[in-house]
Parts: sequence; C-alpha cells; structure tokens
Amino acid sequence: MSARRQPAEQPALRLRAMTVSDLDRVVDLEAQAYGFPWSRGHFTDSLAAGYLAQVLESPDALVGYFVAMPGVDELHLLNITVAPAFQGRGHGRALLAEVAEAGRRLKAAQLWLEVRESNERARRLYERWGFETIGLRKGYYPAAHGQREHAIVMRLPLAPAAGEAP
Ligand SMILES: CC(C)(COP(=O)(O)OP(=O)(O)OC[C@H]1O[C@@H](n2cnc3c(N)ncnc32)[C@H](O)[C@@H]1OP(=O)(O)O)[C@@H](O)C(=O)NCCC(=O)NCCS
Repeated sequence: MSARRQPAEQPALRLRAMTVSDLDRVVDLEAQAYGFPWSRGHFTDSLAAGYLAQVLESPDALVGYFVAMPGVDELHLLNITVAPAFQGRGHGRALLAEVAEAGRRLKAAQLWLEVRESNERARRLYERWGFETIGLRKGYYPAAHGQREHAIVMRLPLAPAAGEAP
C-alpha cells in the first residue's frame, strides 16, 4: 500500500460534476498538461453529449478532471488530467478510482482507454491499476514536427471487486 495521502483523506478536496462554467479553468489546465490539448469544443461537445465528466477541486484551485464516454457494456475514458502542480500525490489514482466506480454503477463490463506510447507516467498508472494492453492504434495522435504517435489501447475488466487499487 502506498504511503501517499489519498485525496479522499483531504477534506478540502471535492469531486463533482463538470459544468460549462468550469470550462475556462479546465481549458487552461488542459493547455498546461498536454502538448496537444483538447479544445474547448471537445469539452463542450462532451458535456452536451451527456458524457460522464467530473472535476476535482480544492477551495482555490482546479486539481484535475476526467471525461468518460458510456457505451454498450463499456466506459471509454477519454481524458484524465491532474494539474502539473498537483501531480505525483495520488490524485490520478483517485480520479481513476472514481471512473472505475462510475463504470460499475453503469454496469459496464469494461473500462478502456488509449494512451500515447511515450506517456510512461500514465501507462504506469494504468498498469499498476490492473489495465491490460489489448492493442495499438498506429499514428493515432499528432506529435511534434508533423509526426504521428501510436496509441496503446488498454482495458480493465469491471467485474465486481476487480480494479481495486493494487
Ligand atoms: C497521468 C496523470 C493523470 C497521473 O496523475 P498523478 O496525480 O500524477 O498520479 P498519481 O500521483 O496518482 O500516481 C499514480 C501513478 O502514476 C505514476 N506516477 C506518478 N507520478 C509519477 C512520476 N513523477 N514519475 C513517474 N510515474 C509517476 C506512478 O505509477 C504512480 O503510482 P505509484 O505511486 O504506485 O508509483 C497525470 O500525471 C497527468 O495529468 N498527466 C498529464 C496528462 C496525461 O498524460 N493524462 C493521461 C492521458 S492518457
């Protein structure tokens, strides 16, 4: 078990549904966290489509967020982000726990996602959580200098009691 503090133990942090009024801060954080960030339109469309979207916030800062698309028997994690100043403190795992729990509530059989091949931090988080690699999407992401980067496709079975923090 990790000695890191979990956000759930920090009463000042709150997880709640993302709304349109969050998008200025979300888009700012997105630009800090990614070389190729989602646009405001991606978030607006996700909210309009009724995707599952939550923010993790402290009284004075946006700590992170996720967006996930429900499908038939599955939940597709589209975006999970922790603000650079808050990374490495267990918030990514806490957000992932919430996504997995939401998937179970929706009776999804699996949670799946794509991650950049070069994103070692995120891949490590998912692998430790129990995700398995199930494929590769070649040239899926834009990359520097007009190049493309492969996506690793990962899935987590959401049978009851599966996907608990290792
Ligand atoms: C990936 C991300 C969500 C992880 O969130 P986080 O709050 O930093 O991660 P946590 O503190 O919960 O750590 C969870 C795991 O991530 C990995 N990790 C965290 N910080 C790390 C670091 N500095 N170096 C390497 N791995 C690290 C570890 O595997 C850690 O598990 P461990 O404590 O058992 O070793 C966050 O770094 C982020 O938002 N990155 C930019 C956006 C992004 O890449 N999102 C994912 C797109 S698929």
